[in-house]
Amino acid sequence: MAKKHILIGVTGGIAAYKACDLVSRLSKKEYEIKVIMTEHATKFVRPLTFETLSHNPCESDLFKEDLCDPIYHINLAKWADLFVIVPCSANVLAKVVHGIADDLLSTTFLACTCQKMICPAMNVNMYENEVTQHNIQLARQYGYTIVEPVVGHLACNDTGKGKLASVDEIEKEIDAYFKKDEPLKGKHVLISAGPTQEAIDPVRFISNHSSGKQGYAIAKAAKELGADVTVVAGPVNLVDLEGVETIHVTSAMDMFEAMKANLDKANYIIMAAAVADYRPEIIADQKIKKDGNDMVVHLVKNPDILAYIGSHKKDNQIICGFAMETENLDTNAREKLEKKNCDMLIANNLFTEGAGFKTDTNVVTLLKKNETIHLPKLTKEELGYKILETLQELENYASRN
Ligand code: CTP
Repeated sequence: MAKKHILIGVTGGIAAYKACDLVSRLSKKEYEIKVIMTEHATKFVRPLTFETLSHNPCESDLFKEDLCDPIYHINLAKWADLFVIVPCSANVLAKVVHGIADDLLSTTFLACTCQKMICPAMNVNMYENEVTQHNIQLARQYGYTIVEPVVGHLACNDTGKGKLASVDEIEKEIDAYFKKDEPLKGKHVLISAGPTQEAIDPVRFISNHSSGKQGYAIAKAAKELGADVTVVAGPVNLVDLEGVETIHVTSAMDMFEAMKANLDKANYIIMAAAVADYRPEIIADQKIKKDGNDMVVHLVKNPDILAYIGSHKKDNQIICGFAMETENLDTNAREKLEKKNCDMLIANNLFTEGAGFKTDTNVVTLLKKNETIHLPKLTKEELGYKILETLQELENYASRN
């Protein structure tokens, strides 16, 4: 899923400097920000500040000759998922509620079909003026969100209502607006990721090449879609995801225990980890010294975590496994789907270009009980969204039948 696009319109008032903080904070989240300014706003803050904070061009002139796009305002309007005017002066408020389009900001506002949010900031007398109050009413009637200014000491030394709402408050309103798009809100997603390490002695282990990237990408997507997410991660070189509960484990036995401990609360369980099938029967207390020309390590079977989860599946749970194959992908994967009682299995062939452990892309076949779908090459993040979307469809189907 692409980042949400927020268009920030900055108008000419001293509170324009607070828009810098807002743009800085939003850019660090899952939003892409573009800023447009009125001519007056550029007297308070330079466009370069917003360009640096948003990593996007910041324009103010509707007719600028070297604009790369001749119908910039229309394309910008189509690009936006939310248009926020912050701070919004009395003048610009009056213009936009009366359909006046005489500069880049007001023209883009009129062309925008997305939700609009207005954060007024002005002198108390201007704010309380019945004309401004009428304009606020009009804005509400048009369905725009008003983030009301607060009472405080104003830059003009007056005290009263007109101070821009706090950046915290505006950020919260914006987050709340996008949270409406969270189809997995109230769901718990439990994901295993990465390899396991099976110790031979204090310095050696048996493991595999799994990077954990696919499991983490699913976790990130699930978080974005509003779910509570728990990741049980084998040893990976990845940074814990913000807002995701991450339990670090080493061996298959540790992973088994952590998965079991978190199973009851989970609605979707996704086994993306590459679990070692076998572990050394004995872990030597001390480093094994070399002795002779060969060495035998006796291995015993690890529990099949996915098969355990499948055999303990509750009615409200949807289970998804993975299968890494090097031959007979469809047949082998379908066998695993059935044997382990999964609702879905994601299968890939290690030898396909663009698939595999270390890449940022994946080429997979998605197997459901009665359907096989061959997907094109996707980024691991795109595949994360696709998996969650399909699991949700399966859940909806199950609850209807
Ligand atoms: N899996 C598991 N516990 C194991 C081994 C595998 O939970 N001990 C899970 C994996 O996380 C994956 C699925 O089972 O979701 C299939 O794993 P894979 O290694 O492809 O299959 P195996 O069942 O191990 O069969 P084989 O190695 O013979 O292909």
